[in-house]
Amino acid sequence: MATASARRACAKVKQQAGARNAARSEVMEKTPRAKEQSREARDTLLAKPVRHIPEGGLAALRRKARDCHACGLWKHATQTVFGAGADDARVMLIGEQPGLQEDAQGLPFVGPSGRLLDRALEEAKVDRATVYVTNTVKHFKYELRGKLRLHKRANAAEQEACRMWLAAELARVQPHIVVALGAMAAQTLFGNSFSITRERGQWRRLGPATEGFATFHPSAILRTQDEQRAAMYRLLVQDLSEIAKHSDLPE
Ligand code: URA
Repeated sequence: MATASARRACAKVKQQAGARNAARSEVMEKTPRAKEQSREARDTLLAKPVRHIPEGGLAALRRKARDCHACGLWKHATQTVFGAGADDARVMLIGEQPGLQEDAQGLPFVGPSGRLLDRALEEAKVDRATVYVTNTVKHFKYELRGKLRLHKRANAAEQEACRMWLAAELARVQPHIVVALGAMAAQTLFGNSFSITRERGQWRRLGPATEGFATFHPSAILRTQDEQRAAMYRLLVQDLSEIAKHSDLPE
């Protein structure tokens, strides 16, 4: 006959086995979802991870993004600034985040940076009307100085929270050419070690039918003084001219 301590030991072993089985079945239950998520993340053109890609066409995404509370930036911004352009555009330009004027108008690149970008695109013989223009982060972030709202860079957590929208835009538009404007977009596409100074203008494969490169952000040019500003602007135009040269890409 088993002693009381042997029975207690036996019950403990059974309890531990039960806990192990429960944990295993939980893992097994989670596995398909985990696989689904990693497939989604693998299928994006982005180097940085994306946990979930919202469903729907561009119009539905734009509607859903209006109510996005994935990070705290919506609280102080006027509105979500989603991408703009044709849903079958062959070229996508990705900036950093909306500024003051974009926040007010709800459209990307309509302020001073946008005007510089428009001029550079025109010189590079790229028609902005045929391009999809968007940002890495969809809300304006700022700090108050008196009454002024001064641009503040979105942090890593805010970028991560917003990345699903960019991944969804890329998945729906399926551009053949993607151009990152500035370091935030470049590192989202190509990884954290990407350096605009070293690797600007270099084509990279992003997916089976998509190539891309990074170039200066228009606002970095606006912040730079005199001669260097002119040189950077010429390089931006030179880089954007590459888009027109790649007219042999599939429709
Ligand atoms: N800078 C950006 O990165 N995006 C905009 O839309 C405006 C300024």
